[in-house]
Amino acid sequence: MPKTPLLSRFPHNRLMEGPTPIQRLDRLESVLGARAKGISVWAKRDDLMGLGGGGNKLRKLEFLVGQAAAEGCDTLVAIGGVQSNFARLAAAACARSGLACELVLAQMVPRDMAIYQGNGNVLLNRLFGARLHVLKRGDDAGGFAMRRASELAASGRKAFVATLGGSTPVGCLGYVDCAFEIAMQSAELGVEFDQVEIPNGSGGMHAGLAAGMVVAGRDPSRILAHTVLSPVDACIAATVDKVNSVLQLMSREEQVEAGDLRISGAQLGGGYGIPTQEMVEAVRLLGSTEGLLVDPVYGGKAFAGMLSDFESGTITPGSNVLFVMTGGSPGLYAYADILNDD
Ligand SMILES: Cc1ncc(COP(=O)(O)O)c(C=O)c1O
Repeated sequence: MPKTPLLSRFPHNRLMEGPTPIQRLDRLESVLGARAKGISVWAKRDDLMGLGGGGNKLRKLEFLVGQAAAEGCDTLVAIGGVQSNFARLAAAACARSGLACELVLAQMVPRDMAIYQGNGNVLLNRLFGARLHVLKRGDDAGGFAMRRASELAASGRKAFVATLGGSTPVGCLGYVDCAFEIAMQSAELGVEFDQVEIPNGSGGMHAGLAAGMVVAGRDPSRILAHTVLSPVDACIAATVDKVNSVLQLMSREEQVEAGDLRISGAQLGGGYGIPTQEMVEAVRLLGSTEGLLVDPVYGGKAFAGMLSDFESGTITPGSNVLFVMTGGSPGLYAYADILNDD
């Protein structure tokens, strides 16, 4: 059940076991030594969920599948890139909820090799029983999904179309709830998190967390996000819109402006899904110090961003930082060529 009664009127389909843990990364701190500048590093383990390999998208899917069921849909059509974690978790959530699942997978990254097109998330999508529609480069995924929903309707079925990353206002409610979960855990641990570091892809996680913080009377500029998909100005504008749509959906009067959100474009590199040296080093550092995995597209770039925030002083020396681990480890297999190369 949602942690805050503010969300109880929204249909919700439970897919997670309960709150995900917050853990201190003390081995990382000691290996970083002086580079850590006395900062205590904590991880919100949103990679630690049982269904479908887990990850941040399950929080959104709890509300999206709830909405689909409330609307009487029998099929979920989800849009994502070829290696979309959202698509993989939508497939698993549908399997668990008794919905049929169709995935519309767009070529968002210039990687045509077999490990990218057939391993990692793509392999798991098939195991979870989804029907895959793998598009050609340049095809319009949204248009394809709407046409497919009409075809299904013509054959007597009812489809719910979930947009890229599941980041509709309803999907974002999953991270509103997470903001309340973090506040509860912070009180239990007796640790105030001065900054929260996250990746921003389709912006839904950022929007939900920021809306949750606003509603709880906390400052959303504590969130330091690293865009991995759109250029920084477009990312800020789209995320502001999303936060305000979520607040509106919750019938709240508060609104945010661009100055309330902090998003860095420094880790985007060549663009979405294109590896950077900093990402590779960050994935290896967390793996080799803590035995934990971040993915190459989102978490790896955000973790690299957090390390550079230590260095630049963006994170105050001696403070507490919470890094949200968002899962996505199947994506590592789709980048084996880069990650194996030393
Ligand atoms: C592993 C992982 N982390 C982070 C994100 C970013 O979340 P959002 O799209 O809500 O910004 C995604 C989105 O696909 C993801 O799969």
